[in-house]
Amino acid sequence: MKAIVYRRYGGPEVLGMEDVPEPKLGPESVLIDVRAVSVNPVDWQTASGDLDGRFDVHFPVIPGWDVAGVVAEVGPTVTGFAVGDEVIGYVREDSIGRGTYAERVAAPVRTIARKPVNLSWEQAATVPIAGLTAYQSLVHALRVEAGDTVLVQAAAGGVGSFAVRIAVALGARVIGTASARNHDYLRSLGAEPVTYGPGLAERVRPLAPAGVTAVMDMYGGEELVSSLGLLREDARGRVVSLTNDGVLEHGGTFVFARPSTEDLDELRRMIESGLAVPEITTVLDLSEAAEAFRLSRTGHVRGKIVLRVSAG
Ligand SMILES: NC(=O)c1ccc[n+]([C@@H]2O[C@H](COP(=O)([O-])OP(=O)(O)OC[C@H]3O[C@@H](n4cnc5c(N)ncnc54)[C@H](OP(=O)(O)O)[C@@H]3O)[C@@H](O)[C@H]2O)c1
Repeated sequence: MKAIVYRRYGGPEVLGMEDVPEPKLGPESVLIDVRAVSVNPVDWQTASGDLDGRFDVHFPVIPGWDVAGVVAEVGPTVTGFAVGDEVIGYVREDSIGRGTYAERVAAPVRTIARKPVNLSWEQAATVPIAGLTAYQSLVHALRVEAGDTVLVQAAAGGVGSFAVRIAVALGARVIGTASARNHDYLRSLGAEPVTYGPGLAERVRPLAPAGVTAVMDMYGGEELVSSLGLLREDARGRVVSLTNDGVLEHGGTFVFARPSTEDLDELRRMIESGLAVPEITTVLDLSEAAEAFRLSRTGHVRGKIVLRVSAG
């Protein structure tokens, strides 16, 4: 089968399309005929060696953790899925080597769930990592509810777009950060936009004079520090960071999204009831993965980039 592969750490130039062996199907896994995968910053961060300290990496590596596709075969102990099921998955295992940028993927059942029926394959591929990260941050870590005012950093990105919509669906008011060109997009998601960067606190305070009640941080630098100062006195510690585990020293939570069929099922129910997925700004063919990495590395993609693998 065809897959995108890299044999050493580096930038987009290390990616190539190759013929690779078919994945082996474990007893508790399903084989997925891949229709689409979405591109996440972690894909190129891993390829550049940034996660070398956190995961064992076995070269050659097929990048990618998100997948949407059709079950082609099931392992002998699998009961909840059958051949022909349309599924999505966040196929992260404990080491890195066999990812999802491929025609077929073997996915442990704990990493997959049914695809929302109202989404295209490209839209479905946007859900697993970005949706789970937003959902697990807002629901499990921050326990956001009606009456909250949530500050969502990087609100126009993949995770941010989901986070704004999920927080709004939970009944919260959302202040989201983005550059000016994305402010109308943030309004369309349901957020009140502010520009990120120096002076952020001064721009947020007029919108929330008493302070915000929860913060979702994605970049972990100066903006995490200024966000902490924006938390209302009785909301200290209601902060999640996706990139800086120093947040633990402030009573907050470091989130690294975890595969969960249960949480994907909950997202599916929300999406089938009307929760919209992020805008897809670019769809490329699998063979154009290097171009997708280049775009994602700019750090200014609105919504998501998706790679089309097969039309079925
Ligand atoms: N821990 C986890 O489990 C986990 C999971 C997913 C993602 N992440 C991390 O979370 C971050 C966001 O992920 P993503 O998938 O949403 O990325 P993304 O889709 O690439 O995010 C791009 C967005 O970030 C905005 N942005 C760039 N610099 C910013 C800044 N300094 N402040 C606020 N917004 C800024 C851009 O807005 P403008 O174009 O308007 O500048 C753009 O819309 C990444 O660092 C990623 O590695 C962590």
